[in-house]
Amino acid sequence: MIKIAPSILSSDFSKLGEQIIELDKCGADMIHIDVMDGKFVPNITLGPPIIKSIRKYTDLPFDVHLMIEEPGRYIKDFVEAGADIITVHYEADRHIDRTLNYIKSFGVKAAVALNPGTPVENIKDIICFLDMVLIMTVNPGFGGQKFIEYSTNKIKEVKNLAETINPKLLIEVDGGIDSSTIGKVVSSGANVIVAGSSIFKENKIKENIETLKRGF
Ligand code: DX5
Ligand code: ZN
Repeated sequence: MIKIAPSILSSDFSKLGEQIIELDKCGADMIHIDVMDGKFVPNITLGPPIIKSIRKYTDLPFDVHLMIEEPGRYIKDFVEAGADIITVHYEADRHIDRTLNYIKSFGVKAAVALNPGTPVENIKDIICFLDMVLIMTVNPGFGGQKFIEYSTNKIKEVKNLAETINPKLLIEVDGGIDSSTIGKVVSSGANVIVAGSSIFKENKIKENIETLKRGF
C-alpha cells in the first residue's frame, strides 16, 4: 500500500487550515510538515506553535520532517504540538541513536532522513528499530527542485536491508516527485511519497493527487 504525504511547504500559508481540510478530503494519507531552521538548510519555515494550531483540522497523521541542527532539543515540543512521525536528519545529529530512541520513548514513530550525498551504509545498524527511513531525492531546503536520479539506487539499498532486518520499515521519498518520477521510486521500493509542488500545482489538489496515483 503506497501512502501519499503532501508537503504543506507548497501550500497557501495564508489559509493553511482550509488547505489541510482539502488535502484530507482529496485522499492524502498523511500531512508532511517541513521544519527548517536556516542553519541545517538555507531556509526558515515553521515550528511547534503552527503545527499545534493546524492539528484540529484533521485526524491524518502529521509526518514532521525536521531539517534542524541538533533536533533532540525540540522533540518534546513537536510531540506536544501533535506530531505522529518525527524524522531527524542523520547529518544534523552526532547522537542519532539517542535521539531516535528518545522520539520512540514518547510513543511516536521515529525516522531518519539521509541527504542525497549520505550513504545508506551509515544507517544499516539502526534500521532494525526504525519506523521509517526518508531518502531525500533532492537536497533539502526548498520545494520545486529537480529529482536526483541516483536516489533510486539508495531506495533499493534500503529496501534490501529492510527485507531481512525490518520488513515493516516504511521507506519515504521527498523531493521532485511528480507523475514522471513516482513510478521509478515506487518500483525501487518507496512506499511513502512526499510531494509538494506537484500536488499544489494550479491549486488542483484533487486532480493532482489522482494523477500522482495513476503514475505507479
Ligand atoms: C524539501 C522538503 C520537501 C519539499 C518537497 O527540503 O523536504 O518536503 O516540500 O517539495 P517538492 O515536492 O516540490 O520537491
Ligand atoms: Zn520534507
